[in-house]
Amino acid sequence: MAITTCIFDAYGTLFDVSSAARQAAEEDGFEALADLWPRLAADWRDRQLQYTWLRTIAGAHVDFWQITGDALDWALEAAGLQGRADLRERLMALYWELGAYPEVADMLDALKSAGLATGILSNGSPEMLAGAVKSAGIARNLDHVLSVESVGVFKPARAVYDMVGRSFDCEPGEVLFVSSNGWDAAGAAGYGFRTAWVNRAGAPVDRLHARPDLELADLTTIPEVAARA
Ligand code: LAC
Repeated sequence: MAITTCIFDAYGTLFDVSSAARQAAEEDGFEALADLWPRLAADWRDRQLQYTWLRTIAGAHVDFWQITGDALDWALEAAGLQGRADLRERLMALYWELGAYPEVADMLDALKSAGLATGILSNGSPEMLAGAVKSAGIARNLDHVLSVESVGVFKPARAVYDMVGRSFDCEPGEVLFVSSNGWDAAGAAGYGFRTAWVNRAGAPVDRLHARPDLELADLTTIPEVAARA
């Protein structure tokens, strides 16, 4: 079955989640982050993802903006920076307008030129996704930006992946799902999507119920992959 639809995870896949802490560390007044920012960024992301899974299991959903703030509070306290309200405010503002990876705009242009449908399927709230899409300037090359807020649970619940078929009127086998999160790629592969795992960090593959169909170093070759899949 030919690929008709390319669906992207947002945070970590299109948008560089570590760029907020990296950028803040370079700004006046935030010298405290100079050595700490890589650890802070990693703790922030780890807790953020853990909180999505735990709240879904517990049936205690809140949106991804709340989760992102809660995770940042944990990471700041772990770094001994819990009193820094100015830092918290700046990091959250930077998260709202995260930079896209450099290859994203051209890659989406190529997919649209080839006539494919494109979209985002993300844990992000509609508002924060709109902020990131706007600051990356990629709105015109996305047919739908789908947020889990429509179903009230986080990935990798199947109810989230179900949103793609409803919005794009397509079969799972026509979808190329692209994620840098190994557990999300596994969830999507188990659901029945064709999946590409973008493994920028060279991490081992996740040992879960399904494995991605292919592993890529970045997003550059997605248009070729979609054409030949
Ligand atoms: C997302 C998270 C998983 O965008 O990065 O859904």
